[in-house]
Amino acid sequence: MFLWGTATASYQIEGAVAEDGRGPSIWDTFAHEPGRVRDGHTGDVSCDHYHRWPEDVALMAGLGVDSYRFSIAWPRVQPEGRGRINQAGLDFYDRLTDALHDRGIVPAATLFHWDLPQALEDEGGWLNRDTSYRFAEYAAAVADRLADRIPMWITLNEPFVHMVFGYAMGNHAPGRTLFLDALPVAHHQLLGHGLAAAALRERGAEKVLITNNCTPVWPASDAPADLAAADAYDTLHNRLFNDPVLLGRYPDLSAYGVTLDCVQDGDLDLIGARLDGIGINYYNPTRIAAPTAEGLPFTDAGVTGHPTTAFGWPVVPDGLRELLTGLKARYGDALPPVYVTENGCSQPDVPGPDGVVDDQARIAYLDGHIEAVERARAEGVDVRGYYVWSLLDNFEWAEGYHQRFGLVHVDFATGERTPKASYHWLAKRIAEHAGT
Ligand code: NOJ
Repeated sequence: MFLWGTATASYQIEGAVAEDGRGPSIWDTFAHEPGRVRDGHTGDVSCDHYHRWPEDVALMAGLGVDSYRFSIAWPRVQPEGRGRINQAGLDFYDRLTDALHDRGIVPAATLFHWDLPQALEDEGGWLNRDTSYRFAEYAAAVADRLADRIPMWITLNEPFVHMVFGYAMGNHAPGRTLFLDALPVAHHQLLGHGLAAAALRERGAEKVLITNNCTPVWPASDAPADLAAADAYDTLHNRLFNDPVLLGRYPDLSAYGVTLDCVQDGDLDLIGARLDGIGINYYNPTRIAAPTAEGLPFTDAGVTGHPTTAFGWPVVPDGLRELLTGLKARYGDALPPVYVTENGCSQPDVPGPDGVVDDQARIAYLDGHIEAVERARAEGVDVRGYYVWSLLDNFEWAEGYHQRFGLVHVDFATGERTPKASYHWLAKRIAEHAGT
């Protein structure tokens, strides 16, 4: 069965950051540092989903989705990042899970969507190998409580983005600027994935996945320097995270003057253990040219000639088909079933005088990308699900509340939810294609 879904993440929607024993995460710390997030926005209240979740589950039911992808906040479960389990934090996800089942919606839980307990960051965060073991301990505690009712588990969300924005460039928490020295963060996250996957399986998890953010890479020209740069970018963005989980090995990085010295014997066996599916998040392709300065082995040349979202991201629906068929071509039988675990766009989304958001650009975006998934399936890629990012307008990381991705408009002053035109369009689309 093909799963139609929608996705969110804990820090982006929950609020209630000090409730029921939740500890601080790196995003609480980061968002409260002046100058980090646009206009000083924080996730302190956000959509207040922690209290308004019954309304949000009702919205999902109205949409007719088969599945809901949400993330569990590690600092709610282990406020100190290790040891003591805060059952009151798990109670929240327990209630949510049961409510989803009551509505016939399959829960798909992500264990790590970037809100690392601050206590672990104080010990080096993902630069420290010990964090991988702490992650497995946390995964085990969550699975002990919920694996009997959550069939689908995603260990990590977009480890590439967390490494690059969080540890290399510093525009996300924890705000480190280590550039290529951030590389151990890739391996320690992936090791955490492998260890957590084993812990989940031991506790009866039905399906274990990882979600990678992938992009088709377009060389800016046929010039050998541009082709080489595009290959370097593809290696660092896509293959660095897909090869180890699908092939059990890292791509060769020696040409870029970097090595993964932190890999130990046995790590890749854990990381490369069989997956039940791979989650792919797609937003846009990337156009790459030869480097123009010292440092990185490529330059982002920018995709031109396509419409753009409010974020300025190019809208290229066929890039999703290209990505999916490209994964099949590269990994062949090693590619497990694919779930598009995120796809969507930010739009200006100003409510009209009647309060309605007539987001025709989002409808066109979703329509184009859903068709691209259909083309990829027709070309032989085993795609089993499509999750729209996002159910609600929410805290868009460094952009705060300025980028609205929701199918449902949220008034952040009052918490009021109003389904946009895209919500009604998608409900109809899902109803027409149920079971496909
Ligand atoms: C991917 C991330 O997983 C999600 O948290 C984010 O909001 C969207 N991309 C949009 O940037």
